Amino acid sequence: MSNIEETLDPEDWERTRKLAHEMIDDAIGHLDTVRERGVWNEMPDTVRAHFDTSVPTAPQDLETVYKELRENLLPYSMGNIHPRFWGWYMGSGSFTGALGDFLAAVDGSNLGGGNTAAAAMDSQVVDWFKEMMGFPATASGTLTSGGSMANMVAHTIARNAKAGVNVREEGILAMPQPLRFYASDQVHSCHQKALETLGLGAKSLTSVPTDDHQRMDITALEQAITDDISAGIKPACVIGTVGTTNTGALDDLNAIAKLCQKYEIWFHVDGCIGAFLRIAPKHRHLCDGIELADSIALDPHCLTSALMGPNSVI
Ligand SMILES: Cc1ncc(COP(=O)(O)O)c(C=O)c1O
Repeated sequence: MSNIEETLDPEDWERTRKLAHEMIDDAIGHLDTVRERGVWNEMPDTVRAHFDTSVPTAPQDLETVYKELRENLLPYSMGNIHPRFWGWYMGSGSFTGALGDFLAAVDGSNLGGGNTAAAAMDSQVVDWFKEMMGFPATASGTLTSGGSMANMVAHTIARNAKAGVNVREEGILAMPQPLRFYASDQVHSCHQKALETLGLGAKSLTSVPTDDHQRMDITALEQAITDDISAGIKPACVIGTVGTTNTGALDDLNAIAKLCQKYEIWFHVDGCIGAFLRIAPKHRHLCDGIELADSIALDPHCLTSALMGPNSVI
């Protein structure tokens, strides 16, 4: 019987160290020369063929895998790291963020909980977000995989808060009234998907028309709310957007907050594009009212977070 320990560690740390240094040098070179390349590089069929093979059954050394990645993956990226990428709204990340991802993986902590420094840092970041958004210390929050998930977490809480029954216990079929969510016709598609996933259906999202600046029409919003109340439907949540995906439009959050207070509706803000405007010295007033939200989805573009006001329970 062999006494050699079975491990996932590299067989040769020195060789791995050399390759890792090479990867860092290549990565810096890749980013440093991005302006010299085109934004888009069409993938030839010969390269595409590399992604259509059966499961590899034999081991390969890391050098070979890295060569494959350097030749067949890196040249054919989306292009959103290029300064002339104007095709879609799409964040580019940063080299500091890439180093952070690497070091987070090296730390390897599972953040489901635990008395670890990584968990403490996770909470600290959420606390900083709360402070930046003007939320009280009693608010809660969580880091998520992206904006869609952050919005879905918030909609789950809004649904549970307004359902009129204990949805976690009884399920949505026990709800005494159908719920309605409201958002401008510029809202991101993830909201409809979240409501479908939460069992409320796409029809539970009312699309409110916008004005000449793509901001939610507040008069139309109130009309939709009162129409629904008359029809026996419960207005549950208004979604204000700070920075719409198409044009970066900012809804009037104070006006939405006022209506939400009047009709006892959950006020959610999708700030995945613009919430951090709140810390811009000259323009923070553009998202006045964000501090009145019951929940915010926000995205500093390397991680995403959902914040919930003090009365929220997940
Ligand atoms: C305003 C807004 N909300 C939510 C999302 C969804 O974010 P993600 O793609 O990270 O799930 C986006 C994405 O572009 C967005 O622009």
